[in-house]
Order: sequence, then structure tokens, then C-alpha cells
Amino acid sequence: MADIFGLKNRVAIVTGAAGDIGKATVELLVSHDARVLALDIDPAVHALAQRNQVVAQRCDVSQEDEVISAVTLAQAEFGGVDILINNAGKTLNKLATETSVEEWDNIMTINARGYFLLSRESLKAMQPRRQGAIVNVASVVSMVGMKATAAYSASKGAIAQLTKVLALEVAEYGIRVNAVAPGVVETNILSGIVEDSRATLASYGHAHPLGRVAQPEEIAEAIIWLASPKASFVTGTVLMADGGYTAQ
Ligand SMILES: NC(=O)c1ccc[n+]([C@@H]2O[C@H](COP(=O)([O-])OP(=O)(O)OC[C@H]3O[C@@H](n4cnc5c(N)ncnc54)[C@H](O)[C@@H]3O)[C@@H](O)[C@H]2O)c1
Repeated sequence: MADIFGLKNRVAIVTGAAGDIGKATVELLVSHDARVLALDIDPAVHALAQRNQVVAQRCDVSQEDEVISAVTLAQAEFGGVDILINNAGKTLNKLATETSVEEWDNIMTINARGYFLLSRESLKAMQPRRQGAIVNVASVVSMVGMKATAAYSASKGAIAQLTKVLALEVAEYGIRVNAVAPGVVETNILSGIVEDSRATLASYGHAHPLGRVAQPEEIAEAIIWLASPKASFVTGTVLMADGGYTAQ
């Protein structure tokens, strides 16, 4: 494939790479000849290493020592880090009044602390080379309220703010930090929150002006664009990939 996105030989770390959006993102990066360190708490991530350009590692993004080891591995294997895709996430469909402290902390620790840790360690690798791009996978609930998602929405709101602050802090190094905020995407994450996923997906689809939910590949396309030199003057933004959900 012609290197239209300027991603050939770029080194990308992708978290939550065993999940649906993560896997689609790894596949797209590989199709553009990027090299990828694929991370996930799920050992299934190792299946991605069948591709020549992919190294896979089990990593819990909420654990500082594991994140430091993972970024060190990327540098050892590939000589640096050009791109970080923060995508690992967990959801919780509970009213605030029914959410325990343990559940709150678990969601915040994976979704907010995890993005912070990966960003901090990757930026340490990017800054001396004065180049890099981070893309954080946020959500429509980074922007608008949704009942029974208190912990998840709070964590995704934190990610939108983290995106803006990091963009300001590293602009002088020529490093860009952006987020993609999906509407509902047909992925495994939904199976944990809905019993009849087919019927629920259809009703979620109607809530989006485009009349359907997204496929993981459509989110990966938005992620890749923001990560690539094609988005060279874009930083500090949250790109809604939500079928018009938040335009209403
Ligand atoms: N599916 C949607 O409707 C939707 C909408 C908006 C945003 N998102 C976001 O997209 C991202 C990807 O989710 P998905 O929909 O592909 O779901 P998914 O469940 O398929 O993928 C999530 C991945 O994150 C991994 N993960 C969870 N905790 C982890 C940890 N502590 N360390 C490392 N990896 C961990 C899981 O093992 C899984 O592989 C998430 O951040 C999610 O919040 C999803």
C-alpha cells in the first residue's frame, strides 16, 4: 500500500489491543506498515504477534511498573515510540446510588489512571526526539450525560480534559495529543452491560442520527487519521465519531 498516511515504520503502542476497537486499530496500523506494540490485560493479545510488525505483551494499564516495562520494551524492540493509542477501557452500567467505592475506583483506575500512566511514560520517550502523537479513545459520555454510567462517564470526562492539558504541555516539543469520542460501537464491551445485545444494539442505533451503531473499523479510521502526519496541525481536540449523537 502506498504510504498515504505517512505511517510507514512508525512505532505505535496500542492498549486494549485484544479488544474490538484495539484490534481494528492494530490491523489498520499494520496495513499502513507501522510497527506496533500491542498491549492488553487479556493474554489473547499474543495472537496479534503472528504479524511480523507486531510485538504483543500482557500489560495491566493501571499498574505503574507494568506500564514502565511496556514502554521500555517498545524502545528496546523498535528504537522509540512515535504514537500512543490509549484505548484499554472498562465500563460499568450502574446508577451512582448503586455504585460501590470499589467499583468507582476500579473504573477510574483503569480508564483514567491507565491513560495517564501510558501518556506519561510514552511522552518521556517522545520528548527527546521532539515528535509524537497520542490519541485517547474517549466517548460521547466525555461530553454529554447518560443515566447509569456515573463512574464510566466521570472517567471518560477525565480523559477529555487530560487530552487538552497534555496537548498544551507538550506542544513545544511538536507532540500532538487528541481524542476520538465514539458513539455506540458494536464491540464486546457491550456484552457486559446488555442482556439482549441484538435488540439493544438496534435501539442504540436509533439514538444516533445516522440510524445505526458504529463498527470498530470506523473508529480505527478516525484514530489513525489523528495519529498520522495528515493531522499535523490538530492538537488538543476531541473528535466526535458518534454518528451525530452529540449534534442533537
Ligand atoms: N463500544 C462502545 O460502544 C464504545 C463507545 C465509546 C467508547 N468506547 C471505548 O473504546 C475503548 C475500547 O473498547 P471496545 O469497545 O473495543 O471494548 P472491548 O471490551 O472489546 O475492548 C476493551 C479492551 O480493554 C482491555 N482492558 C480492560 N482493562 C484493561 C487493563 N486494566 N489493562 C489493559 N487492558 C485492559 C480488555 O481486555 C479489552 O481487550 C474503551 O476505552 C471504551 O471505553 C467504546
